[in-house]
Amino acid sequence: MAESMKGLHRTHRCTEVTEECIGKTVTVMGWVQKSRNKGGIIFVDLRDRSGILQIIFEENDIGAEGFIKASKLHSEFVIAVVGRVEVRSGAVNENLATGRIEIRANELRILSEAQTPPFPVEEESKTKEELRLKYRYLDLRRPDLQRNLMMRSKVATLTRQFLSDEGFLEIETPMLCKSTPEGARDYLVPSRVHPGNFYALPQSPQIFKQLLMCSGYDRYFQLAKCFRDEDLRADRQPEFTQIDMELSFVDVDDVIDVNERLLQKLFREVLGVEVKLPIQRMTWQEAMDRYGSDKPDTRFGMELKDVSGIVKESGFSVFSGAVAAGGSVRGINVKGQAGMPRKKIDALVEFAKGFGAKGLAYLAIAADGTKKSSFAKFLTDVEVDELCQAMGGEAGDLLLFAADKDKVVYDVLGNLRLELAKNLELLDKNQYNFLWVTQFPLFEYSEEEGRFVAMHHPFTMPMEEDLPMLLTEPSKVRAKAYDIVLNGTEIGGGSVRIYQSDVQEQMFEALGFTKEDAYARFGFLLNAFKYGVPPHAGLAYGLDRLVMLMAKEDSIRDVIAFPKVKDASCLMTEAPNLVDEGQLTELSIALVKEVEEQP
Ligand code: AMO
Ligand code: AMP
Repeated sequence: MAESMKGLHRTHRCTEVTEECIGKTVTVMGWVQKSRNKGGIIFVDLRDRSGILQIIFEENDIGAEGFIKASKLHSEFVIAVVGRVEVRSGAVNENLATGRIEIRANELRILSEAQTPPFPVEEESKTKEELRLKYRYLDLRRPDLQRNLMMRSKVATLTRQFLSDEGFLEIETPMLCKSTPEGARDYLVPSRVHPGNFYALPQSPQIFKQLLMCSGYDRYFQLAKCFRDEDLRADRQPEFTQIDMELSFVDVDDVIDVNERLLQKLFREVLGVEVKLPIQRMTWQEAMDRYGSDKPDTRFGMELKDVSGIVKESGFSVFSGAVAAGGSVRGINVKGQAGMPRKKIDALVEFAKGFGAKGLAYLAIAADGTKKSSFAKFLTDVEVDELCQAMGGEAGDLLLFAADKDKVVYDVLGNLRLELAKNLELLDKNQYNFLWVTQFPLFEYSEEEGRFVAMHHPFTMPMEEDLPMLLTEPSKVRAKAYDIVLNGTEIGGGSVRIYQSDVQEQMFEALGFTKEDAYARFGFLLNAFKYGVPPHAGLAYGLDRLVMLMAKEDSIRDVIAFPKVKDASCLMTEAPNLVDEGQLTELSIALVKEVEEQP
């Protein structure tokens, strides 16, 4: 039986009741975490989003009827309690903010009864994620998720405050858009009014924010929902949120400056962590050479070393051949791991093969200096010594080498480095290493499409000194693009934009669009550039990723209220689903083949 809360007003959240309230009467409301009946006295842990508070019920205070009611309480009942705050009679609980007090209840109302939930609502749940996501509304009651979402809200509020103080305007851009080229597949929405035509949901507000700059809004931001139909991973969702911004009359340093101060404020006010400014910057090339990654985790060393020069003429054809073919041989030094069992090394070789390696060569330097290696027998003693020296190899170290095209070598060693750091527990979640990666290549070659594609997006400005190579040597052109990386995760990225229609046209040409194609797709932008456009630049953070790292979670699902799973479905609502024939007819859509009803 659900009772009314008529006449009652909540005076405090659970943990707002402090020792200062002792002697006062308070009214609290929330969920029963657990209830213990000790005969003449009933203890209830009351939970709300602030935390837990202990209530005690005794017949003397609450009367016979009230006591019977209290004895019926079960987990997840929603109740209202009026009572006096007292010093805790039993043992103090140092783990609770309210561990020194309790409420002696003199009124109880059961606002809602609850069935036994399919899993316990508790911190650090051991329940499988699928079950929790099916009952997400229960999962979201768990204190860890509640803290995450409260943190997310705080990050959003502080961001709005900061950017607004810095003169940014919050402006919304459309969700029903024309397809924009951001690299991923679009989610399409059929138009009823224009049969056969589709809107695309935005992959980002990129073009609109550039148009806002053309229109003179100067500094824009938005917490924007973005949609990308791409393979999901722990840090990717089909819909996610960006902190998106764009600024006029600026260059790289201006964007970096305002964003460093934003990050400093967020980390200071949300986590009490002081971000030292300026944040380190590294060119893309240096990041690849030292870490084999464009988003290096700089919390640990194990940097890549190029040893091509030492082995290029060696008798080991795997090495000399790779260099001769225009590739390289690089290695990492896994300190103190010379004793790694053969089985584990074999597992690393398999891991490397997963990233395209043909093999992984190793050299272990035992404590007494003797060497065990899969390839040293093909090298002269001088070459081996030089190799060890170049790698900083000392007694006890394990050296691992990959030989291949640069792209493969970077990928293999970059990922191996992270895998080893994970296995050897070198990663400290309490450490926050920020890094700007700059001067990205403007293009990358897509084997799949047989042409150059934009590494960031087609509106990114080439570096001035590289402009003459735009059409002749596109692979050498660097971009005025930057990513902000935190502990090996790309939390944001942006660039200075092209604002000259002739450069933008050349850019489309380099990407293999004819002028007609380019105008058919982006005519509105190219035309806008003809009517007076300020130089502009911007950046967007993945809000979900940022909060994930701040909350020390491993998945962005843990900082999103209603996330989707790997196949982009929602286990709670069961979206996507089949729709009525009538809805399809109205949209002039016929399904190609009968779709079986999913079990
Ligand atoms: P970009 O494509 O780099 O740039 O995206 C910006 C940031 O958004 C986050 N992100 C994602 N987060 C969760 N799930 C996804 N599927 C996902 N995809 C991207 C990342 C990324 O750094 N318009 C440009 C920005 C600009 O140039 O101003 C853009 O969208 O953290
Ligand atoms: P093999 O002569 O093929 O038995 O290789 C000798 C050693 O070199 C083995 O440890 C292989 O794993 C390793 N190896 C083979 N190809 C490569 C490569 N492309 N890069 C690094 N090591 C390799």
